[in-house]
Amino acid sequence: MMPEYIPNHRPQFGRLFAGILLVLIFSACTSSDNSQSTTGGTTGGTTGGTTGGQVDGPLGPLPNPPLTAAPSQDDEPIAEPASFNTSTDLQLVRNPVPRSEAPATNRYTDADFESGPLPADITIPDDVNPEFNSAPDFENIQNIEAVAGQQLEIVFKPIDADGELPGMFPVALAPGASFDDNFDGSKTYRWQPLQNDIGINAFAVTAVDSQNSLYRNTRTILIRVRLPDDETQIPNVPPTLDPIGPHTARVNDPVVYEFKGIDLNGTVPTLELLSSLPNASFSNHPLYEDIYTLRFIPTSTGEMNVQVLVRDSVDSNLTTTENVTINVLPIQAFERTGQRLRDLAAVRGIQFGYASLQEYYHRPDGGVYADIAADEFDLVTPENAMKMNEINPSAGQYQFADIDNLVAFARLNNMQVHGHPVIWHRQLPEWIETANAAELEGHMREYIHRLMNRYRDDIALWDVVNEPIGDSGGYRDSLWYNALGETYLETAFHQARTTAPNATLLLNDFDIAINGPKATTLFTMLNNLLERGVPIDGVGFQLHVFSDFNQIDEVRANFQKVADLDLDIYITELDVGLRETDDLQAQANVYASLISVCLQQPRCKAIQTWGFTDQYSFRENVHPLMFDTAYQTKPAYQAIQNALGN
Ligand code: XIL
Repeated sequence: MMPEYIPNHRPQFGRLFAGILLVLIFSACTSSDNSQSTTGGTTGGTTGGTTGGQVDGPLGPLPNPPLTAAPSQDDEPIAEPASFNTSTDLQLVRNPVPRSEAPATNRYTDADFESGPLPADITIPDDVNPEFNSAPDFENIQNIEAVAGQQLEIVFKPIDADGELPGMFPVALAPGASFDDNFDGSKTYRWQPLQNDIGINAFAVTAVDSQNSLYRNTRTILIRVRLPDDETQIPNVPPTLDPIGPHTARVNDPVVYEFKGIDLNGTVPTLELLSSLPNASFSNHPLYEDIYTLRFIPTSTGEMNVQVLVRDSVDSNLTTTENVTINVLPIQAFERTGQRLRDLAAVRGIQFGYASLQEYYHRPDGGVYADIAADEFDLVTPENAMKMNEINPSAGQYQFADIDNLVAFARLNNMQVHGHPVIWHRQLPEWIETANAAELEGHMREYIHRLMNRYRDDIALWDVVNEPIGDSGGYRDSLWYNALGETYLETAFHQARTTAPNATLLLNDFDIAINGPKATTLFTMLNNLLERGVPIDGVGFQLHVFSDFNQIDEVRANFQKVADLDLDIYITELDVGLRETDDLQAQANVYASLISVCLQQPRCKAIQTWGFTDQYSFRENVHPLMFDTAYQTKPAYQAIQNALGN
């Protein structure tokens, strides 16, 4: 019933021929492993990712020996018992070993501490001349020594050489800390560091100029915490639960909670379930000792309370009881009128997709989430599960379970998967951020090959490079660009084509559909890439906009310019934030007009919204999606139906 997914890219015979020739020459004189046919883990069961020695493609072989270990049997996901997830129709998998500890996120050393307070970090807006308006600052900024258990009180008094009194706010508070107004222009940071805080901690406060609130100075103090001589002096604080907000679920769907116990004393609390719940299981997480999984199946509707007792591991009398609530609604409460978005879109020859919450099946509302997704969409992108810090968190370690599960879900529901992102400058693992620049090209190619090769039978559409354009045009100042220069883009695309010859390869970015420096750069970049024969098949437009968005004509014109380059167009990350809470109709109109622009453009192949429920949106505070937090449709949903149906 659904149209077959036909990857669209122009064959490049010249390159292909050169590639074949190279393969012949190389295979004649080398015996290294050039197996491009290793099976992807989800389809064939064996491990994806070849070792080094690959010779196909214009780039020459991958590093040989490999720079880091390729995925191996040790990385293969293993079956997860059903009692840990909300799925009733799929055997899900989990990663086999805990994620390795990232190297200390504590970026500061004793040497930093000893060299005194960090320099001021001042932001000067364009309309401020610091000669006439001096930057705000703080009196008496200094680093602090403390022992665990000590009650710290650190006074911050903002000052300005102009004689005004600046405002201030803390960048982030440590758990249990407060930043209290003294009503004399100063504020006090109150914090009791505990065993968890041993080492060097940073605390940052921003002073705000009284004339221009964008004129700011952030000062960071370092607080070095050591154990006191007498450790029994450190108070044993009650353990708590990592907070979980309210959810809405559907009756008879399994509900899963992952409860994580927290103890600032650095110990691991034990958890006990106090409520009696239908068909409940309560189990230790197989990988993480601080997590417990509760699964139950509500058989009647109404608000349910789940009570969990958190018990201190040192003093068993020290406990906290926490309550979470879930609103169980009848099946009818989730029914929608009209036709499903994927069916309406199919009639118009396009796909309709969404970005999937990572591990939705470990959430209380995973059942209804999966069902709505399967009904409404025929294309799915991992919202976070394919970020490099998730896939390859440490050198030689791979976590494929979340993507394997998404691929299995997509196959079951006749959806296509859109890989995102392959190369990006954010959500990178620490080992890449600190890698030797001279090896980054090799790491990049190895990563592209290992990821895309594993899923080459499952994923035919990829955001190969995400956000390469700087905020004011030009190349974005990224780890990849800084190490490899402009050619990183073409290297990434060539490697992607070599590994996945039949896939559709996209460049994805934001603020490129509207006129401005980013769109200007986009077209220079595309012309360049195409002239040099770089295998790019299309452009992904993010479109995280607001309900007062009114540059539809620019979007239409820029889509046409992409089409004129013989490239495909994807709306990859659509969501429409509310300016005011009652802008629901304006939000609906923006969705409808952007969808119409896609429908009017023959090269526009798919529309994806970035999530579908406000319950799980990275812009949750502006409620940008077409389902609300209780999975009820908003006017935007009907507007999308109408736009697709017209
Ligand atoms: C976002 C996710 O939605 C968030 O959950 C995460 O914390 C940060 O990344 N452009 C992209 C996406 O290409 O990968 C980003 O996703 C949103 C902006």
